[in-house]
Amino acid sequence: MRSAYVNGRYLPGARATVHIEDRGYQFSDGVYEVCEVRDSHIIDGQRHMARLRRSLAELRIPMPMSDRALGIVMRECLLRNRVRDGIIYLQITRGVARRDHAFPAPDTKPSLVVTARSLDRAANERIAVEGVAVVTVPDNRWERVDIKSISLLPNVLAKQAAREQGAKEAWFVDSSGHVTEGSSSNAWIVTIDGKVVTRPADRGILRGITRAVLLEVIKAQGLSLEERAFTPQEAYKSREAFLTSASQVVVPVVRIDGRAVGNGAPGLVATALRAKFHEHAGRS
Ligand code: PDD
Repeated sequence: MRSAYVNGRYLPGARATVHIEDRGYQFSDGVYEVCEVRDSHIIDGQRHMARLRRSLAELRIPMPMSDRALGIVMRECLLRNRVRDGIIYLQITRGVARRDHAFPAPDTKPSLVVTARSLDRAANERIAVEGVAVVTVPDNRWERVDIKSISLLPNVLAKQAAREQGAKEAWFVDSSGHVTEGSSSNAWIVTIDGKVVTRPADRGILRGITRAVLLEVIKAQGLSLEERAFTPQEAYKSREAFLTSASQVVVPVVRIDGRAVGNGAPGLVATALRAKFHEHAGRS
């Protein structure tokens, strides 16, 4: 990383550090956002900012600067890191204070870090053409996964479990036996009779921005949609499966827990939705 914005300054990656008493470091007391960057445009920036504001409000952390100023910092990070295709990462924590679990003094300034990095678009395209494997794991997260909190230990452990089984993603399964979402993506299936199914945006999942835009693409394509929970057993027998996230957009899932989905190749619906996505996404 060439440059990162840390609390008012642009620093070279190696010197971009936070205070050891930052509440993000001490307690994971903060939130984050990841936006896709494509052809030097920020994708769905407005929606990501709205979700960021909501996450902050839920945790009663003030927004450290205006949307306009934040937009300028994001743009500057892209330029300084020469990112044309990649991601912007934004993190806001409750700030630096002597370690005490309860909130610090109200005048404590929230910390803001912004970084940007390039992704290999061609490599991501190849992954989408091949499809990925997922494994299921018990969902042992807290109930407020609708907040995009930096507290991601269960997600880290789930992703690592997936990697150790040769899979790209882990799908969390709740105590009633239904898939909630991936460790860093939302989960979808296409039933044998062609219905696209994804869990409703209740508190069991993060309201993915990619998910929200894809719902519009699905409507525009005249596909039939069911917002309901599904089980791994239903997913094993489905025609297609896929996942969505800002960094990967739409990625076909070809194996779940070692079983081939459909004919074991990326499905037509997922592939078409991936191709159409950016016609519907916002860009700034
Ligand atoms: N992850 N669910 C979880 C748990 C996530 O962490 C993410 C995003 C999503 C998809 O949301 P969106 O479409 O807004 O990216 C769903 C980001 C990319 C990350 O952690 O890197």
